[in-house]
This record gives sequence, C-alpha cells and structure tokens, in this order.
Amino acid sequence: MSHDLARPVPWNDPSADDRDPAARYAELRAELASLLAGEDDGLANLANAAAAIFHTLPGLNWAGFYLLRGRALVLGPFQGRPACVRIPLGRGVCGTAAASGESIVVPDVAAFPGHIACDSRSRAELVVPVRAGGRVVGVLDLDSPYPGRFDATDRAGCEALAALVAPAMAALAGA
Ligand code: SME
Repeated sequence: MSHDLARPVPWNDPSADDRDPAARYAELRAELASLLAGEDDGLANLANAAAAIFHTLPGLNWAGFYLLRGRALVLGPFQGRPACVRIPLGRGVCGTAAASGESIVVPDVAAFPGHIACDSRSRAELVVPVRAGGRVVGVLDLDSPYPGRFDATDRAGCEALAALVAPAMAALAGA
C-alpha cells in the first residue's frame, strides 16, 4: 500500500461522501445522541462530539467548541490544527455569534471584517451559538478550506447538533 501524503485524507474530501447533506446530518444527530447518552462528563462528551463532527462532515479543516468564560470565549475540545485560545466576546466570527446569539455563515472569511485567522487554510466558516437555560454558553465552530462550503442546511444541521451538546457545555461553562 502506498502512502501519498499529498492526497487529501478522505474525511477532508467532499467528493468522498455523496450522501444527501440533510440525511448526513440526520445520521450524525443520531450518532451524537448515542455517543452522549448515559455519560454526564462534559469534557468527554464535547471531545467525542468534536471528533464525530470533524470525521463525518466532509470538507472541514477544523471543528470544535469555544466555551464562554466571563467576557471571553476559551478554546474547548476540537479537531484540527492548534487554534487561538481566547476570543473576546464580540470579536471575530465566534465572538460575534456568541454576542448576538445568532448563527453566522461566512462564505469567504477574507470578506468578514475582524475574522480571526487561526489556520491559513480556512476559507469558509460556520459558527453556531450553544444555548443552555436561555443563555449562550459557548459556540460550535466549523472551518473549511473550500469557499462557500456552508449553506442553510449546514446551519440548521449544526444548530440541532448544538442543542444536543448544550448540556455538556453547560456542565463546563464557568468550570
Ligand atoms: N476564525 C474564528 C476563530 C476561531 S478559529 O477559526 C478555530 C473567528 O474569527 O472567530
């Protein structure tokens, strides 16, 4: 077996998974619900959630969580290259989504004023606030090297995933 390191790994290649995106999200929701069932450790659950998301959704170079601690988002479990640790509320895509409580789809990160570049390969981004007890406790952040990678299906799909991880994140918020 040859190892061509220049070839994209399968989970980063959008053409390697031709499932309908909505069906893929439905399967991911079910997988995530079963991964989290019966375990109440927030750190373990967010770690498994980041891994499930990164390895299921095609075309990502980063997937993970930032937890709201006071007036800043602090890096939580993720998959991808090392990332910025602290993001002030209201800054970057993550801080803007957390401050407004609204998901943000960024087709081209170069066109988003104040975008914080953690990985120079990132071209598109989707950030979804995670809410627990009516309050934002953090965000789910996805990055892609493909411009325009995220659409309304991704937004709705990730909002449902965010609801699933909300108890895990709430358990860690302020920890
Ligand atoms: N790009 C984000 C920062 C986090 S990294 O993408 C992992 C932002 O602008 O908030």
